[in-house]
Amino acid sequence: MTRTAIVTGGSRGIGAAISVGLKKAGYNVAANYAGNDEAAQKFKAETGIPVFKWSVADYDACVEGLKQVEADLGPIDVLVNNAGITRDAPFHKMTPQQWKEVIDTNLSGVFNMTHPLWNGMRERKFGRVITISSINGQKGQFAQANYSASKAGDLGFTKALAQEGARANITVNAICPGYIATDMVMAVPEKVRESIVAQIPVGRLGEADEIARCVVFLASEEAGFITGSTISANGGQFFV
Ligand SMILES: NC(=O)c1ccc[n+]([C@@H]2O[C@H](COP(=O)([O-])OP(=O)(O)OC[C@H]3O[C@@H](n4cnc5c(N)ncnc54)[C@H](OP(=O)(O)O)[C@@H]3O)[C@@H](O)[C@H]2O)c1
Repeated sequence: MTRTAIVTGGSRGIGAAISVGLKKAGYNVAANYAGNDEAAQKFKAETGIPVFKWSVADYDACVEGLKQVEADLGPIDVLVNNAGITRDAPFHKMTPQQWKEVIDTNLSGVFNMTHPLWNGMRERKFGRVITISSINGQKGQFAQANYSASKAGDLGFTKALAQEGARANITVNAICPGYIATDMVMAVPEKVRESIVAQIPVGRLGEADEIARCVVFLASEEAGFITGSTISANGGQFFV
């Protein structure tokens, strides 16, 4: 049976690698994105994966967007909550807007995407909800009170919902990447990046494909006994 997956923020960075990894593993894949049409159209042309534009921060847009995806591709079995943003600032300079944007996207976005799909997964007695949290949700990070709070919130969400989904054969898991070589990390000044790499025991940034492989595993039938878990993929930088 061909299963259907949706990846939020699935046309760039880690999300693009996840979309491609799932397609290679045999899934029908839809990639959601927020606003970078050029990157999304390029991704679609290169991979053949359809792209759907809406903001995960908007609940009604998620409901409508998911209806469209299910009309085009069929019921969604696998949800990968990958979309995420940073608005870094030391706390004394952090604005309410910076706080809100990050919480709305990284935490409420996970609710907004999972909630409309939940009943369908329950009725069909199968589901996979996989959320991309972060090492900085586990350990906290200077100038990321908003981001660290949102990503720690994703882990609480995962553990709570895993308990609700278990009887319906829905697993709910999280992945905490360390520093991965994507636009988000490459946008950091080179000096700062060098100091980050110096803190990673394996001596390099991670690759987006290394996160995609974790997702493909958690999405599989074979991972059915794993729920409420967090996989840390961080090159040995932080142990929980
Ligand atoms: N890179 C890292 O080292 C790292 C480490 C730990 C965790 N993470 C997490 O991994 C995830 C992916 O990170 P990345 O580095 O691949 O990021 P990225 O390269 O900046 O890409 C982010 C993706 O999310 C989408 N997006 C942002 N806001 C959205 C919204 N409101 N609605 C729908 N889509 C939205 C973007 O869409 P557009 O293309 O339209 O802009 C883009 O496709 C994030 O959750 C991030 O927090 C990353």
